Amino acid sequence: MIKVEIRKASEGDLPSIVKIWQRNIKTLNTFSDIARLYRYFSRYFFIAVIKEPEPNSGEYDKDKIDNIIGFVAGALRDGHGHVSGLAVERRYRRKGVGSSLLRRLYEEFRNEGFERVTLEVRMSNKDAIRLYEDHGFKPAFIIHGYYADGEDAILYEKRLSRAMGVQEPAPAYTTRAPR
Ligand SMILES: CC(C)(COP(=O)(O)OP(=O)(O)OC[C@H]1O[C@@H](n2cnc3c(N)ncnc32)[C@H](O)[C@@H]1OP(=O)(O)O)[C@@H](O)C(=O)NCCC(=O)NCCS
Repeated sequence: MIKVEIRKASEGDLPSIVKIWQRNIKTLNTFSDIARLYRYFSRYFFIAVIKEPEPNSGEYDKDKIDNIIGFVAGALRDGHGHVSGLAVERRYRRKGVGSSLLRRLYEEFRNEGFERVTLEVRMSNKDAIRLYEDHGFKPAFIIHGYYADGEDAILYEKRLSRAMGVQEPAPAYTTRAPR
């Protein structure tokens, strides 16, 4: 099993985030769009980094800085938390990484007193819809023609339970913690 750490993104992680965003999300967002979002909302950007390789994978390089395999881009919108982007590199999917990224973001929102999170997702994106519904997101309404190619979005929302006092920073996650 690979060991993945979720940590706050830094400015130097931006090129990797942009690469993963553009490779995995149907998007027209340019480097500067994503960089601008990061500069406004850097405290809500988290990345998933491989800490230990899969046996014989040959993909992990301990001297390489860039073992980033996914990210979540959080933001604030109209006084609540929002998920602007979430992606995991294809070969690392279905290992709980997307869930770990989302949980870390909820923790940040909760610690700041936010009790609601929203996001938009393409109607056709069944994998992501399954993930979000598993996490307790409920569909609120449809935004017709939301995406540049004319596809509709579903706006999903989730209620967060209140923070129980000051929380410790998240530990290095192995995957598959409860959602
Ligand atoms: C959506 C995405 C981030 C999920 O990441 P992930 O690391 O694979 O997610 P997890 O492993 O935490 O999945 C958790 C649960 O979500 C559901 N799920 C996730 N991917 C799924 C898929 N391909 N098919 C069915 N269910 C899926 C499952 O219930 C899964 O639990 P399980 O593996 O125990 O059945 C990833 O598929 C991705 O990067 N997709 C492309 C980008 C994208 O669509 N982003 C979202 C819109 S911005």
